[in-house]
Amino acid sequence: MRKIIIAGNWKMNKIFPEAEDFFMDIAEYIENKKLGNVEVVICPPSVYLEMAGDITADHQLFIGAQNVSRFESGAYTGELSALMFNSMELDYCIIGHSERRKYFAETDKSINEKLKILQENEIIPIVCIGETLNERESGITEKIVLNQLEGAFRDVQINDDVVIAYEPVWAIGTGVTATPQQAQEIHYLIRNWFVDKYSKEVAENIPILYGGSMKPENIKELLSQQDIDGGLIGGASLDISKFSEMIDIAVEL
Ligand code: 13P
Repeated sequence: MRKIIIAGNWKMNKIFPEAEDFFMDIAEYIENKKLGNVEVVICPPSVYLEMAGDITADHQLFIGAQNVSRFESGAYTGELSALMFNSMELDYCIIGHSERRKYFAETDKSINEKLKILQENEIIPIVCIGETLNERESGITEKIVLNQLEGAFRDVQINDDVVIAYEPVWAIGTGVTATPQQAQEIHYLIRNWFVDKYSKEVAENIPILYGGSMKPENIKELLSQQDIDGGLIGGASLDISKFSEMIDIAVEL
């Protein structure tokens, strides 16, 4: 059975005491819960990773970064390496988020390099893909998503965990959510791409998360779709009551 992942992407939000309170509260909230095949992941700003790791060390909570350098180490001022994350026993790292593609010139090539460097350092990549509104309206959603997959997975072997997040850019932070049918259609396309490129077994094991205005009101319907295996949640993951409600809904499904 594929795991279901409820992941929060905090982006550039929360000051230190707020982040610390959140981690203590969420760790306590899920302490004695039976989560079954649901895995809870939080990706705070990187300056909070150490604190988050310390607080959640003995809890059923996984921590991820939001980005990683494509370089190994050395004179790259301001960058954080996969080796550093590995040395902190980090579990996950998001790569290729549309905000990084848009504001920080992230390309399929750099995402491909980051994917490989994360694999070398045993950190599970959460690879984000998704079309813009313009691309959807031009009828090229499938082409865009498949091109992003081709680019990100060029010369990549899959022997360990990899997670995909389908995040239609027009649904991110807008309050507009893809309908469960729209999302399922693309998730199915993505899974089939993995069947063709790798194998049925690889494809069956890859959690494909949906991202884009996911919230307690719509998570159940989205997660009920065959190929939607969780969520990468932005805004609603900043609110502990909404985030814990979404964990509960996923566990109950
Ligand atoms: P929102 O949930 O705020 O739309 O953000 C989604 C996202 O970008 C998660 O990575």
